[in-house]
Amino acid sequence: MIIEDLGMNGEGIAHENGKAVFMPFYLPGEIIENGKIIKKSEFRITPVCPYFKACGGCNLQHLKYEKTLKFKQNKIKNVLNKFKINVEVLECEPSAKIFNYRNKITLKCDGKKLGLYKLNSHEIVEIEDCKLASEEINSVIKIIKEIKINNIKEIIIQNYNKNILVTFKLINNDFNNIKLFKEKIKNYTKNYAIFAEYEDKTIFHAGEKYFIKEEFNIKYPFTNKSFYQVNDEIKNKIYSDILCNITSNDEVLDAYSGSGLLSAIIAKVAKKVVGVEIVKPATINANKLKEINKLCNLENINGDTAKLIDKIKFNVCVLDPPRAGVNIKVIQSLNMLMPEKIIYLSCNPATLARDLKLLENNYNIISLKPYDMFPNTCHVETLVIMCKKNNKF
Ligand SMILES: C[S@@+](CC[C@H](N)C(=O)[O-])C[C@H]1O[C@@H](n2cnc3c(N)ncnc32)[C@H](O)[C@@H]1O
Repeated sequence: MIIEDLGMNGEGIAHENGKAVFMPFYLPGEIIENGKIIKKSEFRITPVCPYFKACGGCNLQHLKYEKTLKFKQNKIKNVLNKFKINVEVLECEPSAKIFNYRNKITLKCDGKKLGLYKLNSHEIVEIEDCKLASEEINSVIKIIKEIKINNIKEIIIQNYNKNILVTFKLINNDFNNIKLFKEKIKNYTKNYAIFAEYEDKTIFHAGEKYFIKEEFNIKYPFTNKSFYQVNDEIKNKIYSDILCNITSNDEVLDAYSGSGLLSAIIAKVAKKVVGVEIVKPATINANKLKEINKLCNLENINGDTAKLIDKIKFNVCVLDPPRAGVNIKVIQSLNMLMPEKIIYLSCNPATLARDLKLLENNYNIISLKPYDMFPNTCHVETLVIMCKKNNKF
């Protein structure tokens, strides 16, 4: 069997009896017989992680990095073609760190094994470390391995430098193992925060409640309750590219604004910014950020973008929705209100293409650029700058 192409999830695609066959971990150009590679791709490399294939986290560790960037660019091209959107897809921005780039990991636990899920399964692959996670996170995993995990179902570890946030999701209210973890992590760092979640309650257990992080001249609380992009270096590249499209006259709607970092960064440049976010703790965080940085031109509203968009005055709209993309009602409002510019950051090419199609009568795409936020996986982040038709850019 000859592998002809790579599918959306990085799996090899071959044809047998006229039907497409999906073959994970094989590469285009390879010839497979009885599950063995008879002819290897020149772009195949040896994966560095011992859990590769068993663990569902990575699917492209066996492919040379330059080729994974091409794969991501092509993946977007293919989806746009399906929607008949004719636009140049720029080269995928590489990540400086291909490993150890993640500032957050969610470990699964079944009382005995601690690790990550297998691909398309809820079975846990026990891991000692994760090659994608930061070195600090891997040090914390080592410490967790020294405690009993029988009452834990999930552990979320976040970091920036040696500032560590750990959230234990428990199946009962026995905190003894967490107390032991606290004693052990103290030897690793002074800057830690430990939270326990049991039933619907989050209990602050020990350390600092949050840390103050500074980027783009904005100080912001780094907490366990907010959404942050996982790859800081690529996040900062994307935010810089967004800022290049904002002027001091702009009134900006930052829809799907999360914990408000991007809104605050834009507020340093724009005339006014309104951030809209549906998760209450994230808006509370965004307001803390506004207060700490004394941003009088920033307003954070907690609510649904679809319900609020018609009540907000703006000439630039930033969209950074979850994987499901932008709600149809929001698209309809944009087509009615016609802001001068739409800046769309997407983590899902399929919903991005769907939404671009719905905006194409009124908007020209000025640029469309992929960013490798998630090296070694099939995921890709895309930034699209759109300008109202007949508008001079
Ligand atoms: C990809 S995150 C964007 C976060 C932020 N822009 C950033 O860079 O940190 C998407 C955010 O959209 C929020 N969200 C989801 N549905 C929403 C809705 N209908 N209205 C407003 N926010 C929503 C989620 O809670 C999440 O924080």
